[in-house]
Amino acid sequence: MRFVHKYADMIASAADVALRGRSVLRVSDLSPLEIGTVLAVATHLKNGRSADQLPMLRGRTLGMLFEKPSLRTRVSFEVAMTQLGGHAMIAQGPDFMVGTRETPEDAARVLSRYVDAIVVRTHAHEPLERFTAAATVPVINGLSAVAHPCQALADLLTIKEGFGTLGGLRLAYLGDGRNNVAASLAEACAMCGISLTFGCPPTHRPSEAFLAHLQRLGKPYGATVRAFSSALRAARDVDVVYTDVWTSMGEEHLAERNAAALLPYRVTPELMGVAAKHALFMHCLPAHREQEVSAAVIDGPQSVVFDQAENRLHAQKALLLALLTDLRGIPV
Ligand code: CP
Ligand code: NVA
Repeated sequence: MRFVHKYADMIASAADVALRGRSVLRVSDLSPLEIGTVLAVATHLKNGRSADQLPMLRGRTLGMLFEKPSLRTRVSFEVAMTQLGGHAMIAQGPDFMVGTRETPEDAARVLSRYVDAIVVRTHAHEPLERFTAAATVPVINGLSAVAHPCQALADLLTIKEGFGTLGGLRLAYLGDGRNNVAASLAEACAMCGISLTFGCPPTHRPSEAFLAHLQRLGKPYGATVRAFSSALRAARDVDVVYTDVWTSMGEEHLAERNAAALLPYRVTPELMGVAAKHALFMHCLPAHREQEVSAAVIDGPQSVVFDQAENRLHAQKALLLALLTDLRGIPV
């Protein structure tokens, strides 16, 4: 059966979605329909018995190449493979630096002979694109300087669990509007009909080109994107308030400048007070209490940060199944 899909709220039949063999470096590498399918598979897996899922990736190996630290991404991918009956291995530090010991292309060609899919956490995005172009197995961006698509999928799953829908909601992102988490979240919102407001100073505002890209992405789904220098204006009446660290990995030399510029964008109880009464607070973690967010907010009743962290596992299991199988047997 085929449907006409406009929003990722809608669910495709597995036959409508041809994700098998593809790579995902940015959220916009997926269509809204494909995002909807990944979310539906994630919900199915989350509600199911893990014993039933064991055979799904039996005999498959996921390679994980990490140039930066990670708790959630690394562990959730490893557990995902274990729960699906496969195996994950990690190379990090001096064993793997994209383009340092050998070209990204050579590393990708070699690893494609060993493993069935590869997760890469890296600094610059361009070597990751070269790596992906040369790989003959799916490559998943586990965070680069410009994108964190796995986080955004888990975020959408969490928002959908909270509100039962995505299209028509409003989300405010406070803080560094130029970072990887903000960029992927913004693409995800636009493609799923969630209107987005950035609250950030001019130094941390997304580029005009990226804002225009988001407007184009969101237009067919009724999503608008606006950037405000007032945190209160950005957060007014929104359904979700989201923030991330002020200084991302690899940018530690900017920490002092960022802290000074972003202090007015801290998510405090007062700021949550201008959002809708039912608003959720979200953060990709790791978090720094009393920097980007008050302890009273992140540890308070509106916070869903640990649901987000758990949903990394379910969303990534769904993504792995979509990239490595034809989703046969999964009722979505
Ligand atoms: N949110 C996230 O990606 O966490 P890690 O850096 O611990 O993987
Ligand atoms: N923006 C943060 C996200 C960490 C998960 C960073 O890149 O360090």
